[in-house]
Formats: sequence, C-alpha cells, structure tokens
Amino acid sequence: MRIVLGVSGGIAAYKAVEVCRRFVGAGHEVTAVLTDAARRFVGEATFSALATNPVPEGLWQRWDGGIAHTRLGQRADLVVVAPATADFLARYAAGMADDLLSATLLVTRAPVVVCPAMHTEMWEHPAVVENLLALRRRGVHVVPPESGTLAGGDEGAGRMAEPATIVATALALSARRCDLTGTHVVVSAGGTREPIDPVRVITNRSSGKQGHAIAEAAAARGARVTLVTSSALSAPAGVEVVHVESAADMHAAIAAAAPGADVVVMAAAVADFRPKAPAAQKVHGLPELVLEPTPDILAGLAEARRPGQVLVGFAAETQDVVARARRKLERKGVDLVVVNDVSAPGAGFDHDTNEVTILGADGSVAVVPLTSKRQVADAILDEVVARLERDARDTRDARDSKRDTKED
Ligand SMILES: Cc1cc2nc3c(=O)[nH]c(=O)nc-3n(C[C@H](O)[C@H](O)[C@H](O)COP(=O)(O)O)c2cc1C
Repeated sequence: MRIVLGVSGGIAAYKAVEVCRRFVGAGHEVTAVLTDAARRFVGEATFSALATNPVPEGLWQRWDGGIAHTRLGQRADLVVVAPATADFLARYAAGMADDLLSATLLVTRAPVVVCPAMHTEMWEHPAVVENLLALRRRGVHVVPPESGTLAGGDEGAGRMAEPATIVATALALSARRCDLTGTHVVVSAGGTREPIDPVRVITNRSSGKQGHAIAEAAAARGARVTLVTSSALSAPAGVEVVHVESAADMHAAIAAAAPGADVVVMAAAVADFRPKAPAAQKVHGLPELVLEPTPDILAGLAEARRPGQVLVGFAAETQDVVARARRKLERKGVDLVVVNDVSAPGAGFDHDTNEVTILGADGSVAVVPLTSKRQVADAILDEVVARLERDARDTRDARDSKRDTKED
C-alpha cells in the first residue's frame, strides 16, 4: 500500500518518526510530507532515511514523473497526518492548498486519518472542535489525542495517540475496505409516502441519508449493492437503484431483491400505517381517514431468511431508546438493530451526522458516538462482516466435523 505520512509542526513530530518506521516495517511504501513548521522540529534527513521515498521538497517539485501537488495524492492508498496541528486542521477544513500537504489532501480520494496533537486549551477551543466536526462529516477519520504530559510540562488532553495505536487504526481502516467483496447487500432508505388522495400523502421525516451512506460504504467495501430508496438524494456510484414511493412498493422491491442477498439492511423508515382506501380524486374539505397497518417487511424477511443471511433493522426512538430497540430485536428475529435517539442534537433525521447503538441478537452492544453518517455506516458494516465471518467459520467447522465422522 502507498502511504503518504503528513507531518505538521507540533512537538509530537518526533513521534511521527516512529509512525513512519512502523508503516515501513509492515511492508508499506511510505512518503513523508513535512510542513515548513514540521521541518523546524524534525530533520528531513530522518524521514528520507527511514521512509521508502525521499521527502519531497514542496509544491514546485516534480514527483514520480508528474507534478508533486497532484501526483502524491492521486497515487496514495492511505494518507495519515501525525501530528495534525490546530493550524493544519484549520487549513484542511477550509479547503486550502497552500503547501504540498494541504494540496495532497484536496487531491486524494484515499482514506484520510488525522491525529491531532496540541495543548488542552487549543484542543478544547470551539474553532478546533468545529474544524474537526467538519472534517469528520466529510469522512475524515480522527485518532483522538490522549491525556498526559504536554510540551512545557503541562498536563491534560491533547497528547498525540501512541504510534502503535495510530498505525493499527489506520491499517485496520484500510484492510476493511474490501471485506464485502463477493457479497450482495440490499439496503433500503428514506421515508415512504402513503397516499391519502392523488395530492396528499402521509410520510415521515426520514431523509434517506443514513441508508444512502450504508449503500455507498458497502459498495466501497466491494459488495454488489441494491439500494431500494424513496429518497430524492443522488445515488452512490456503482450501486443498483430501485426507486419506490409507498410501503407497498418498498415491500415488493425488497421481496424481489432479498432472497438472493447475503445482507439486508432495512434503514428505511417504512410507514407503520396507511389510509385504507386512498381517494381516486382530490378530496375537498376534511377527509375521513381510516388507517390500516402496512405489511411488516422486517418480520417477513426474518421468516423467509436463508441460512447465513444477515438481517439488520433500524429503530428511531425518542425515549427508552435502548430498551425499546432490544424488544424490537427480539420481536423481529433479526441479527442486529441499529437504534438512534432522534431527539439527540445532531442525530437522526436529515442531519449529516448520527450517533447510534448497535444491538446484536447475540447480546453484543456497540455504541457509535456522534460522527458522520458514513462512519456510522462503516461501524454497522463492521458488525455485519463479523457475523458473515462467524457464519462462514461455523459452516466450515460443521463440514470438517462431518468429514471427520465419516472417516472414523
Ligand atoms: C515549541 C512549539 C511547539 C508547538 N507545538 C504545537 C502543538 O503541539 N500543536 C499545535 O497545534 N501547534 C503547536 N505549535 C504551533 C505550530 O507550530 C504553529 O501553529 C505552526 O503554524 C503550525 O504550522 P503547520 O500546521 O503548517 O505545520 C508549536 C509551536 C512551537 C514553537
């Protein structure tokens, strides 16, 4: 893997030497890109000697037969910035490209990991907090700093994470990128619209952003993805899209796509009820609404599931969030329920961020704190992959023990 290691000008720059050494030791091609301030902390010669490639001088240099400011980012499989100063995070969040490192970050489409390091006062400043939130929303991964002794003998939060933690986190992130290759993932997204008459509908606040993020993440991890959506959001690249409107449409589309799927993620907010007899013509005056329940798509999927298929449901709640979700998990017979408290700030409907708890039928509980919907998507898929791998292992073990019994 080609790794660009960005080093900005903080006291923790000396620890970046160890990050570089560990990446090279793990067999990766590393190019270190230093800001001008970083060069005042650590010598360029150290990185040129330890990394696979010499340290590029700057924006104006040619690199690998091309121009450095685009070539490095285009060829990178992973970019890690350690340490990331407050100043660097501000320039990155603002989309600046005034040195080789910031330009590389604007060009690259590879995963980016930043490892902030700074004094506690800087770390807690609203400007830094907001810059990091903006970067997280764009899918940048953050390895948060730890508490401990800081430069000048101060104590507090802001010390860069240990090199071993940074390297392990960054490599795990890249490794999971293709862990759904060969699988078919069906994802539903958006709120359904149930007609009252040809003009009015009953709907809900779901935007479809979380479901679309799951489809995008699954495709990026190598899956063939079918996205059944009622949302007007543009579809992620490389994903097969089925547009639906009502719960009945959603039911039919999922029933057609699910039988062959390895994973079904029901992120859509499907209406629980609908008008029993929608009017054929526009109603004038107050309509008399008689409601009926819609089909329970999730429970139907659980009944019809084939061995090894992983089913994920969603729950949007405003109170007794986890207890209600646990009851849903048991009632529906699915593998995972992802619950969000839609009343929490920055979470749920229409936000670009979310915070969720992922409950497993096996008793597992994974809490994902407020982060981008794309990162929530990856956390959900991590749980899905763990179950696919466990099923594959169990099938292999059962086959082996059957063969052993035969041979006896
Ligand atoms: C001794 C010293 C230590 C510093 N340590 C940090 C630090 O840990 N984190 C940080 O954000 N800034 C730190 N700074 C300030 C940065 O060096 C300064 O903001 C610089 O403009 C960063 O440039 P860069 O982001 O282009 O690398 C330090 C400055 C000095 C002089």
